[in-house]
Amino acid sequence: MTGRLVVVSGTGTGIGKTHFAEALLLALRALDARVAGLKPIETGLGEGGVSDAQRLDRASTFHVKQTGYTFAEPVSPHLAARREGRPIEVDVIVRMVDAVRRETDLTLVELPGGLFSPLGDDFLNANVALALQADNVLLVAPDRLGVLHEVIASTRAATSVPLRLDGLVLATPAAPDGSTGDNAAELGRLCEVPVRAVIPRAPVQALASHPALRALAESLGRRLS
Ligand SMILES: Nc1ncnc2c1ncn2[C@@H]1O[C@H](COP(=O)(O)OP(=O)(O)O)[C@@H](O)[C@H]1O
Ligand SMILES: [Mg+2]
Repeated sequence: MTGRLVVVSGTGTGIGKTHFAEALLLALRALDARVAGLKPIETGLGEGGVSDAQRLDRASTFHVKQTGYTFAEPVSPHLAARREGRPIEVDVIVRMVDAVRRETDLTLVELPGGLFSPLGDDFLNANVALALQADNVLLVAPDRLGVLHEVIASTRAATSVPLRLDGLVLATPAAPDGSTGDNAAELGRLCEVPVRAVIPRAPVQALASHPALRALAESLGRRLS
């Protein structure tokens, strides 16, 4: 038996992917016994602080030794990998995630950067998302000016992979602008991928019991359609 797999990607970095993923893991824990969050590729670990892998692990009930690709420099994974002479291989990531899936009810994988950030000279996060054969792929985007372009471009580009995106998650930015709060409705009109949740600014623990997060966690118990 293989547990379900949810991939969390986004339109960029620093937009709230990990924060959302932590809250979603906490919400999922209420529904499934063995829940694990993984960050199989992470850069910028030389800067200290808590890594995304550690944040996701803290929100998990099932703990694994995170054996992914880690790089010190805060640069694109493909660049960090080239500079350190340690190329990233899709097969290695797929094997690592599959091994965790076999032991869990639900595994959540956060991909680094944006959905079309390069991991090597000839592949992108989107290719990894496809290779992982996830049950659900979620795209996090910031609820701010510019997001309509970012989401429309990303969702259209996903069809060229071809990668099926199951839902959009809009994360409220620290500094809201005149578009914040209206982008979900606009994307409902402009984009075929549905908005599954709008995430307010709140600590992870509080977000986990937010109705939008709980509804999303419950719907991930089956394939979103
Ligand atoms: N909804 C939110 N409420 C409060 N703080 C948030 C929220 N989303 C993100 N943050 C904070 O913003 C920073 C960047 O978010 P993070 O989840 O690390 O982004 P990403 O994973 O996309 O790089 C973190 O310090 C995070 O805790
Ligand atoms: Mg992150």
